[in-house]
Amino acid sequence: MDIETMKQLTQVEQSTQQELPLAARIVLRANSCQPFADCGFSKEECCESQSEQRIIAGLLLSIQESERKRIACDLHDGLGQSLTMFKLALAESEQLLASGAIEQAASSLKRLRQKTQAALDEVRQVAMDLRPPMLDDLGILPTLSWFFREFESDCHGVRVEKEFNLQEHSIPGKLKITIFRIIQEATSNIVKYANADRIRVHLKKVGDALHFTIEDNGDGFDPAEVAIRNGSDRGLGLLSMKERANLSGGEYSLDSCCGQGTRISICWHIDNLQNVI
Ligand SMILES: Nc1ncnc2c1ncn2[C@@H]1O[C@H](COP(=O)(O)OP(=O)(O)OP(=O)(O)O)[C@@H](O)[C@H]1O
Ligand SMILES: [Mg+2]
Repeated sequence: MDIETMKQLTQVEQSTQQELPLAARIVLRANSCQPFADCGFSKEECCESQSEQRIIAGLLLSIQESERKRIACDLHDGLGQSLTMFKLALAESEQLLASGAIEQAASSLKRLRQKTQAALDEVRQVAMDLRPPMLDDLGILPTLSWFFREFESDCHGVRVEKEFNLQEHSIPGKLKITIFRIIQEATSNIVKYANADRIRVHLKKVGDALHFTIEDNGDGFDPAEVAIRNGSDRGLGLLSMKERANLSGGEYSLDSCCGQGTRISICWHIDNLQNVI
């Protein structure tokens, strides 16, 4: 193969990787077979890790499918209904105008304008859930400040202590959505299970590494017990946080113990971030 062809193939491979959804990239990674001798692990260890990755890939594909269903429902039940209602209200205003009932037509249009605002808010909410636009417009640090402000006002009695000792430009672009999704899942678990009244979030740069921690002072749990759950008892949040961290080149750790809160830590070394996918 000549150098030009190799370059083109590499470009195609890179652009395909960027466009593939998380779950598909995991499936690809799970199916890619590296010779055992090259990776430094035994054959058994490789098989075990590949079968764990296949389970996770399957779980993530099902998350993606249910996420699509949820977005379709949001669009159908929210925006779809609003547009149907607009169409009827416009027809009504048109009739009122045609019959010379100017005042009634004006008040019908005013109601319609108020409902338009509600529909706009709904569209913003759907966009926010998919990917907060402010992540791209303002960056991760302002997005997190906004997120925790909203969180504190929704969850009375839970105080959030944030410490961000780094500049926005020290965080690679591709890592921003990873950090945001991990925080969304970790805070959702805290609300559902922890009974905590304090959350600490740290993001800092030390030498050539980024350190992230989120911890709560709640009930804690036994990770070994959770790991052997199966069927519908088996949640996906902890698995997906771990997989997101690993896929982005981070070292993930979870510490929890009944009665002693929960801490999730991830460390990214700058060298590993060159290959962030
Ligand atoms: N911060 C926490 N405090 C206490 N228990 C937790 C915490 N985080 C997770 N857990 C425990 O770990 C279990 C697994 O969490 P995980 O996020 O994987 O699943 P889930 O939240 O039940 O479901 P899903 O995330 O798929 O909606 C939970 O059922 C809960 O028992
Ligand atoms: Mg969860």
